[in-house]
Amino acid sequence: MVTDLGTTLERDRISVSMPIAKRVREWLRTCGFLWRARHNYIHIWGNSSYEREFWRERLLFRSVFIANSPETVNHVLVSHAENYPKSAYTDRALEPLVGNGLFISKGELWRRQRRLAAPAFRPSRLKEYSTQMIDASHDMLARWESAGEGAELEVCQEMARLTADVVCRTMFSQDLDEEQARVVFEAFTQYQESLGVLDVVEILGLPSWLPRPAVRKGRKAVKHLDSVINAIVAKRRADRSAREDLLELLFEYRDPDTGEDMDNKLLRDEVAVMFLAGHETAGNALSWCWYLLSQHPNEEARLHREIDQVLNGRSPVYSDLKRLVYTRAILEETMRLYPPLHLFSRQAVADDMINGQLVPAGSMVIVSPWLLHRHRLIWDEPAVFRPERFLAADAKRGPKHCYVPFGTGPRACPGGSFGMIEATLVIASVAQRFRLRLKPNHRVEPVARLTTRPSHGLPMSLHHRDD
Ligand code: HEM
Repeated sequence: MVTDLGTTLERDRISVSMPIAKRVREWLRTCGFLWRARHNYIHIWGNSSYEREFWRERLLFRSVFIANSPETVNHVLVSHAENYPKSAYTDRALEPLVGNGLFISKGELWRRQRRLAAPAFRPSRLKEYSTQMIDASHDMLARWESAGEGAELEVCQEMARLTADVVCRTMFSQDLDEEQARVVFEAFTQYQESLGVLDVVEILGLPSWLPRPAVRKGRKAVKHLDSVINAIVAKRRADRSAREDLLELLFEYRDPDTGEDMDNKLLRDEVAVMFLAGHETAGNALSWCWYLLSQHPNEEARLHREIDQVLNGRSPVYSDLKRLVYTRAILEETMRLYPPLHLFSRQAVADDMINGQLVPAGSMVIVSPWLLHRHRLIWDEPAVFRPERFLAADAKRGPKHCYVPFGTGPRACPGGSFGMIEATLVIASVAQRFRLRLKPNHRVEPVARLTTRPSHGLPMSLHHRDD
């Protein structure tokens, strides 16, 4: 329950009278935290974080709370969501990329944008999209066939290209050409790299005029992305022949009060959100899936058996999804171990009480799928890749709000079903024909910035299935 305790922001600040030794300790702790966060957000979590439910970290004059149990996640993201909008940190980290688009907008603008996009995610639309998802997979597989047996692929890049193509075909009714796909992948990689450094600065709340070379790098990446987005929008504006895609919904939008259409900047922001939220996440989940399968031959063999049995050599179609249960379980288990979005950050509007602790207004509250999905008190052998736990009959699946790859509550992902359908069909299409094997001695370390990516990519070789 949100309590009416008045703003305690001031109370929360370190008082001038705080003993010097305590202040030094706080500085040291903060420096250690920032040093770890600078390289990899996963490293901020100490061993005990994987067993705790709700606690507070102090970071230079600020309180950061971590909600890490079903009840506290429900509190922050669902039952008291109105008190926990996306944090100023999320805004600052993403604003250059997605402007005022649906991912970070708030209040009435967010409600309007969410309503506007809803028809693009209706079940009837998803069924239609499935053919475009399969077509895009076939195009990729044709390229792989011509690359030949043993060819080396950069799998993260391949999956990002595929999922960006799927978003383009389904949401904007056009294919993404090779050059555009390359620009999108590189720009988003660069933006994420710039964020690794930006995060630290933003958490400290340093003034925005301080020189930050990473910001320049981030801006350059956005400029490249914009060239692709502008080309997509311009092409569709020039050809408005009847299509029922997201871009058409945006073109047709009229402000209920003024009757005006959507201004170009907001339209660009909406396209950017769908493009980026829609492709980076799904591409990421698929990349980790190929990595995990390459390390787990028994699970891979069971996947092949299911695919061969259900498809009997033909291409997958939408109606196969209900029988591809193990394929889906592999995807779910992959996103448990490597949630594409590893951290959601919110900011308390008013003072609140969670688990008997005061959460002062202005505090940042973090929900980390990375932690929740590996919580030792929730999951049986959390570090083990075991897709069976997601089969319906298996009771070891964690409780509600402990498995949140798509978030939960009013800001949960509207593209969750889209992503599940897409990734399941892609896994079936690829695994029907190929195995992917990690380059020998390549070290894979998950690095969490905006999304959870492998530190040095995923160079993998391509092999036709001979079984
Ligand atoms: C495997 C695929 C995907 C994953 C893991 C994923 C994950 C997420 C998560 C965790 C959030 C909520 C973040 C938060 O609460 O702070 C989110 C929001 C969002 N996602 Fe996805 N997503 C996926 C696919 C998609 C697709 C395919 C689309 C669109 C084509 C999409 C569009 C969005 C949008 C627009 C939001 C913002 C919603 C709002 O704030 O109201 N996502 N996604």
